[in-house]
Amino acid sequence: MTNVVVIGSQWGDEGKGKIVDWLSERADIVVRFQGGHNAGHTLVIDGTSYKLSLLPSGVVRPGKMAVIGNGVVVDPHALIAEIDKLEKQGVKISPENLRIADNATLILSLHRELDGIREDAASNSNSGVKIGTTRRGIGPAYEDKVGRRAIRIMDLADLETLPGKVERLLTHHNALRRGLGENEVTHETIMQELTSVADRVLPYRETIWLMLDKERRRGARILFEGAQGSLLDIDHGTYPFVTSSNTVAGQASAGSGMGPGSLGYILGITKAYTTRVGEGPFPTELTDEIGQFLGEKGREFGTVTGRKRRCGWFDAALVRQSVATNGITGIALTKLDVLDGLDELKICVGYTLDGKDIDHLPASQGQQARVEPVYITLEGWKESTVGARSWADLPAQAIKYVRQVEELIGAPVALLSTSPERDDTILVTDPFED
Ligand code: IMP
Repeated sequence: MTNVVVIGSQWGDEGKGKIVDWLSERADIVVRFQGGHNAGHTLVIDGTSYKLSLLPSGVVRPGKMAVIGNGVVVDPHALIAEIDKLEKQGVKISPENLRIADNATLILSLHRELDGIREDAASNSNSGVKIGTTRRGIGPAYEDKVGRRAIRIMDLADLETLPGKVERLLTHHNALRRGLGENEVTHETIMQELTSVADRVLPYRETIWLMLDKERRRGARILFEGAQGSLLDIDHGTYPFVTSSNTVAGQASAGSGMGPGSLGYILGITKAYTTRVGEGPFPTELTDEIGQFLGEKGREFGTVTGRKRRCGWFDAALVRQSVATNGITGIALTKLDVLDGLDELKICVGYTLDGKDIDHLPASQGQQARVEPVYITLEGWKESTVGARSWADLPAQAIKYVRQVEELIGAPVALLSTSPERDDTILVTDPFED
């Protein structure tokens, strides 16, 4: 028995929701360790659908403890709204089943505003880089955390030191806002914002590293729920077109306070083709009718922003990179059925850059924009793979595709998901039992 870390091995939206839900049923504790309410997925349990952005998946299952780790940036308004919405659906949320790290950073309204101001400014001029963010304030909040001026959950309980902290925060933000031609924010506004949410947030605060250490020692099964994907990682992703946190599996440790030796099985959720939302390089992107086909059949629209996702062939070179940077033990391959009916399928195995063959995506922004994918072509299959629950249910060509993926990325398939239904899954290895 082991703990399990679930991360996305591409640019997010790999279908983590269904897999995390399936695993959370087997877990005692579900921990989020990075990102914030820029994530989003829908869980369908006994016919009721629940939309989650900030709260860990375990929260909708009775008897599970949901944890928001110190690596998460918490928008208290989004937190309260999500709790209220779930409670209206009959989900009981209290400190009995939700705890938030007292050292987690808060996202405030000025962060959300700044995210939007920067994105708009970048769209309207050539000076900035438009990232295509979710405009939730994620980047600006992490900037303040690293800049050592953030307001954290536990600060809400210390009304004596809070005004000084707000002062420091505003010295920075108002200088920035003046430079951007925006109105300054008053001390009173932020104090009012913070005091208005304190009573709703503080009851959940916890020393999470200590709690997890105790739970680990008593043998609890802990599931770490990653958000976004490895190629959006601030260090290992397609910088600057990334999110502002480390999304790789190592962050499960730093973002929760549980040492890396206890992480256990690293499950990389991997879509059978590739998608990306927002700007940035995408070597295997298809802007033709096949890209259109994948987008429509795969219902590739963002859960948080509703934006259309860009679609393309499976990029084995990129996933191989994620296998390395995350230490992936096995993958959960999702949405194979979206490829049903295509005459032939391509898989990117490497790139050419300025006429030379390379086997990985270079880190430079300019080079990332210039690489050309090198493909192998496989025969497609006409039969439907929807709902397959054993290898025997799959056409021979589909099995060949899966085996080729495993070989190229250097990791085995632990789970194969063949429809959004939770039971439509081929289980090769149970990550908790591995
Ligand atoms: P931010 O995280 O809102 O700062 O956005 C930065 C980049 O990450 C943008 O390209 C977003 O589209 C992308 N992004 C953020 N969260 C997700 C997610 O949950 N799925 C897919 N892409 C995401």
